[in-house]
Amino acid sequence: MKKLIIGNWKMYPAGVKEAREKFVAIKKVAGTLKNVQTVVCPPFVFVGDLKKLATGHRCVLGAQNAWIENDGAYTGEVSPAMLSSMGLDYVIIGHSERRVLGETNELVNKKVIAGIKAGLTVVLCVGERERDTDGEYMKYIANQIRLALVGVSKKDLSNVIIAYEPIWAVGKNSIHPATTNDALEVTILVKKTLAYLYGKDVGTVPILYGGSVDAKNCAEFLAKSHVDGLLVGRSSLDATIFGEILKSAEKVK
Ligand code: 13P
Repeated sequence: MKKLIIGNWKMYPAGVKEAREKFVAIKKVAGTLKNVQTVVCPPFVFVGDLKKLATGHRCVLGAQNAWIENDGAYTGEVSPAMLSSMGLDYVIIGHSERRVLGETNELVNKKVIAGIKAGLTVVLCVGERERDTDGEYMKYIANQIRLALVGVSKKDLSNVIIAYEPIWAVGKNSIHPATTNDALEVTILVKKTLAYLYGKDVGTVPILYGGSVDAKNCAEFLAKSHVDGLLVGRSSLDATIFGEILKSAEKVK
């Protein structure tokens, strides 16, 4: 399976010109890599513009969020059907930065279902705020997965990717980066949780790690944490660094 490297641009960059330049530079590297699927998730407003530049399959666009309905009086929201109509394949759902704005497990679940129905691949984000020595965080993550997947059939799971992003390791205020072992532990937990929910023949649901991924640690996460890819924030906004991450991923067996 190709390594899946997703860049979550969050609410950056400030203008469309910069967004174009970054995307073109990333695409130039991504287009040369056979073993890596690159996805860039820009802010919604840049999607239409960047879509014109996104030729080929090796570097595609995704969205950072979507609403639970395909149309209606929902001021400020963007529907999964709209994203699909723009030719997008991926949508991030349940990112911790949206959960702090009030997104509950119940809303995340509705978004997961709406995204799948619209034909998108849903990148479901889970992760604990802090770790404890009793392993409560494991229950917390398993519960997030369980609640997000209520009503999602085994067949529909082929359109789901699970991204583990420990909140304490995300962003410039992160306490410290996660270790490859931290990520490995949750890779196993995700697999066990899916087997518990769907049976042993659940199939392959790709698992990503995200949180302070950079050009130095990316290969280690891919090789030692048994993840299928990475969800990259800050380092995806620097085309040179992101390019290095993509090239490292190409080399990991
Ligand atoms: P950072 O890579 O900036 O820590 O952000 C991770 C993230 O939230 C990606 O979705």
